[in-house]
Amino acid sequence: MYFQLKVLGLARKEEDAFTSACFELGAAGVAEDLKFVQKDLRYDPDVVETPTLDMNVYFTEAPGEDAVLQLQSHYPQARFEMTAEENKDWLEEWKKGFKPFLFAHPFWVIPAWLTPPAEAPQDKNLHIYVEPGMAFGTGTHETTRLAAQLIIEELPRSKPQSVLDVGTGTGILALIALRMGVPTNVGIDIDPEARRTARENLERNHATQIEIPDKNLEDITGTYDLVIANIIDGVLTTLRHDLTRVLKPKGKMVLSGVLMDRESEFYETFVKDTGLRVIKKISEGEWSGALLERV
Ligand SMILES: C[S@@+](CC[C@H](N)C(=O)[O-])C[C@H]1O[C@@H](n2cnc3c(N)ncnc32)[C@H](O)[C@@H]1O
Repeated sequence: MYFQLKVLGLARKEEDAFTSACFELGAAGVAEDLKFVQKDLRYDPDVVETPTLDMNVYFTEAPGEDAVLQLQSHYPQARFEMTAEENKDWLEEWKKGFKPFLFAHPFWVIPAWLTPPAEAPQDKNLHIYVEPGMAFGTGTHETTRLAAQLIIEELPRSKPQSVLDVGTGTGILALIALRMGVPTNVGIDIDPEARRTARENLERNHATQIEIPDKNLEDITGTYDLVIANIIDGVLTTLRHDLTRVLKPKGKMVLSGVLMDRESEFYETFVKDTGLRVIKKISEGEWSGALLERV
């Protein structure tokens, strides 16, 4: 159990004095509740400068009424709300609700701590075990499903011999490519925690032939028949020349993570001066994904 004091409408100039006063009264932490806006294709949202601040003050033990009254009398224009919060192991809570599911036909995602249910196919090749840890890529997100669907449809047609999965997360998309017969698979991610999770997940799935090097996209010198990237559209735009550079002539690219609101603007910008063309677009909910070809 911990205690959270929400303080709404504090004058901006009072932030430092207020923070010191909270620590003097025994607070374990003080954090500003920032407001964000994401106006365009950039990945980083802008912080909105509001005239007043909302703060969260955390206590490991209930602060005495005196302490709260003392703060209230110093900052009479602010509103104070105290709540007691349960300390929970959120990962364990989340795991309880995570069940096997048909991820992208014919592949099933099976939580690493469970066995495949009777409805799942018998073929072990179609079971993808996932222990999410800290990385993105449990198969529950629309963008992962869109990318998987495009890969599953395209692989039997163009039979790529090599795949580079940029922003591999748990390695789930590179794993599908391997299971569908692509012999050379590389996954990269800027997040070291994702690379660690990917290596663990791939070992769990007997797929250690998928290489997860400690490299960024700009360090990749080889070229691949299929390049996959499920990353938010603003980042894809900044990576577009490097993503094209690592793609073989006539190679295919699977993109996902594009918000529908800015879909047409995105693909137009993405292909500009790259020699790429979009051959198929698909969508689910507010997300779009596409198959592109290097002409
Ligand atoms: C939306 S997740 C996709 C994970 C997985 N491929 C999937 O489809 O579920 C995006 C991943 O891209 C990684 N990422 C973001 N920017 C990147 C960059 N410039 N280069 C490589 N990876 C990046 C993030 O760390 C994150 O793991």
